[in-house]
Amino acid sequence: MLRTERLDAYYGLFQALFGLTFEVKPGETVALIGSNGAGKSTLLRSIVGSVRARPDGVLLDGRPVGGDPERKQLDRGIALVPEGRRLFPSLTVRENLQLAMRNGRKGPWTIERLMKEFPVMEAFQHRPATALSGGQQQLVALSRALVCNPGYLLCDEISLGLSPVAVNEVYELLGRARSDGLAVVLVEQNVKRALSESDRFYCIQKGRVVLEGSSEHADHAQVAQAYFGI
Ligand SMILES: Nc1ncnc2c1ncn2[C@@H]1O[C@H](COP(=O)(O)OP(=O)(O)OP(=O)(O)O)[C@@H](O)[C@H]1O
Ligand SMILES: [Mg+2]
Repeated sequence: MLRTERLDAYYGLFQALFGLTFEVKPGETVALIGSNGAGKSTLLRSIVGSVRARPDGVLLDGRPVGGDPERKQLDRGIALVPEGRRLFPSLTVRENLQLAMRNGRKGPWTIERLMKEFPVMEAFQHRPATALSGGQQQLVALSRALVCNPGYLLCDEISLGLSPVAVNEVYELLGRARSDGLAVVLVEQNVKRALSESDRFYCIQKGRVVLEGSSEHADHAQVAQAYFGI
């Protein structure tokens, strides 16, 4: 289980998270819902160490892992698909995946399997990452995390700015990964989609959890209220 325990996070003197407690169990999908600036990305960044965290602020199977660098968290099976994708523009799709794999773990996800299950990726594997549409780039960004064979996949706004068809493709790929038992933390602006894709949700407001529960039984009016802070 991956858990944050009364986690605070700061950017300089500015405090972005206030004692945030959150958890995701193996195989579970958890959605983080909240308006702009609520602290969703900060929570993900604190887990992978790009924002500083107390060692015992982040626990993996009960062990303190907070504050360790992203590379080390990847070794432990925690991978982030960052906001904005951040592919290497001068490399081809295949090269981007090969580079990622060098830091990853062995497991069920290989480049070959991805290409086989997603023929659309095979078709553009030799193109530079910059020569892809936003939706294609997002598939690659997700694939890049998958080939590291994480146990926990943290996805920051993976559908942002994509066409409805592209959004469905991205969620289809994520669905394959989930059926393999991967745990997912999903930051998604589309609240309806966030709830339909997840087992549980947390609403975050100004760096605090204001509502949490089962996604299936979520009261949409209550979630909207927590989202907008009214
Ligand atoms: N690099 C940074 N330096 C200073 N403050 C930051 C930085 N990144 C985020 N913040 C601040 O921290 C707070 C939380 O930001 P965060 O990016 O985690 O929000 P978010 O929930 O991901 O929002 P969005 O939906 O817009 O992506 C905001 O008040 C934001 O202005
Ligand atoms: Mg964000």
